[in-house]
Amino acid sequence: MAKRDLISVSDMEDEWPSLVDLAIKLKAERGNHGDPLKGKTLAMIFEKPSTRTRISFDVAITELGGHALYIDESKMQMGVHSETVEDTARVMSRFVHGIMYRAFDYKMMDKFGEFATVPVISGLDNLEHPCQALADMVTIKEKLGGFRGKRLVYLGDGNNVANSLLYACAIMGMDIVICCPAVRMPNAEIMWKASNIAQKNGSKVIVSHEPKDACIDADVLYTDTWVSMGDSTPVEEAIKLFQEYQINDDLLKIAKPTCIVMHCLPAHRGQEITPEVIDGPQSVIFDQAENRLHAQKAVLYTLMKDQ
Ligand code: CP
Ligand code: NVA
Repeated sequence: MAKRDLISVSDMEDEWPSLVDLAIKLKAERGNHGDPLKGKTLAMIFEKPSTRTRISFDVAITELGGHALYIDESKMQMGVHSETVEDTARVMSRFVHGIMYRAFDYKMMDKFGEFATVPVISGLDNLEHPCQALADMVTIKEKLGGFRGKRLVYLGDGNNVANSLLYACAIMGMDIVICCPAVRMPNAEIMWKASNIAQKNGSKVIVSHEPKDACIDADVLYTDTWVSMGDSTPVEEAIKLFQEYQINDDLLKIAKPTCIVMHCLPAHRGQEITPEVIDGPQSVIFDQAENRLHAQKAVLYTLMKDQ
C-alpha cells in the first residue's frame, strides 16, 4: 500500500473524524493494544526542543509494540553538514517504518515527505502542528460531547497551532473565531481553504480583532505562546502587541459558563494566559496534553500498520 504522510491536517481530511474516534478507543484500552506495531521503528528528528511531542511519540510507539529513535538534527549529516534532505529521506526510509519530524521550515518538511518512502508525520513546523490539532479535537469531543453548533475562539498569535486548528475545526463542523491582531493573522491560504471546508460542513470561520466581542458565547477559549520557536519578535514587543488577547478571568466571564480553556503548552503564565485560568476549574489543559499520546497512537497505527 502506498505510504501516506500527515504534514498538514488537510492530508487526512477524510479520516479526521475516525482518527478522533480511534484515539478515544485507544485511550480506553489503557496501553493494552496487543502490540499491533510490533517490530516497527519510528525515527524522530528534532530541529527544535520538545517535551510533549518527544515523550508522547516515544511512549505511543512503545505501547503499540514498536520502538522509537530520537535524533537531534544538529548531530546528523543533513543540513549544516550538507547532506541533502532528499538523500536523508531516502536513506532513512531504508531503515525505519515511519519518520516523525519537527522542522523549522515547512518546505523542508514537504521535501522530506516527497522523498521518504515511509510515512512522514509532522511534529510541528512553522506552518502547522497537526498532531496537536488532533489531540485538541479528541479533548473537545471528550469534554463537550461533539462539535456541531460549538464555537472555539482562538486568541493571540496566528501561528502554526492556529493554522492547524482552522483546518481541524472546519473538518469537524465546529465554528472557529480567529481573534488575532491584524498584523499576526494565520496563513491566508489556510484561512481560505478552511472557510471552504467549514462551509461544506455547516460551520464558519469568523475573524475578529476585538477579544471582548469574540468571546461572547464561546464554548472553548484557546491560546498559544505569543513568541513561537524560531520567531525573532522580542518578548517585550509581543507583550505590547498581544496584551489585550490574554486569556484571563475577565475574558473568561464573557464566554459561556460551561466554556473550557485550552492551550497546547508550553505556557507562559502571566503572558498569553493567567495562572488563575490555567489552574482554574474551566481549564482542560493537562487532559489536552495527555491526549497527545492517544491521538498520536491513532496516527501511528493508521499510517504504519501496513509498512
Ligand atoms: N505542544 C507541544 O508540541 O509541546 P512540545 O513543544 O513540548 O512538544
Ligand atoms: N506555536 C508554538 C507551539 C509550541 C508547541 C511554537 O511553534 O513554538
